[in-house]
Amino acid sequence: MKRYFVIYLVSLITVSCGDVSTNSAQVSNEDDMANYGRNLYETQCILCHGEKGNAKIAQAADLSISKLDETVVGDRIYHGKGTMPAYKDKLGEPEINALSKYVISLRNSK
Ligand code: HEC
Repeated sequence: MKRYFVIYLVSLITVSCGDVSTNSAQVSNEDDMANYGRNLYETQCILCHGEKGNAKIAQAADLSISKLDETVVGDRIYHGKGTMPAYKDKLGEPEINALSKYVISLRNSK
């Protein structure tokens, strides 16, 4: 009987430790995601949209005042529009998702 209790205790400790490490892993994934989005933006988009999204080079839309939601932003990156190239053959879904989030975050960095 006593032995089962010890096993029960050990499994409780293991489960709670597991929860803690899962939470911190999620936080660092979000940080990674933000860095990933920024790196992609700096290599692919800064040329026309500028560091803060408002450079408007080659008639690029001002991303700092854009009102498009995240899905439409992703769609714009995927298909392109006007002088903006399509990225569907260049970037995969995870890249486009990270970029869309980063593009939205440019609205708060003015
Ligand atoms: C060659 C220049 C160029 C590059 C490079 C470029 N864009 Fe654009 N982008 C434009 C132009 C021009 C528009 C306006 C298109 C239109 O509406 O006619 C635009 C529009 C957008 C819009 C729509 C904003 C709105 O409110 O209408 C988003 C979002 C966007 N770009 C994101 C990106 C991202 C992310 C990248 C990098 C993956 C990128 N762009 C790379 C030129 C560029």
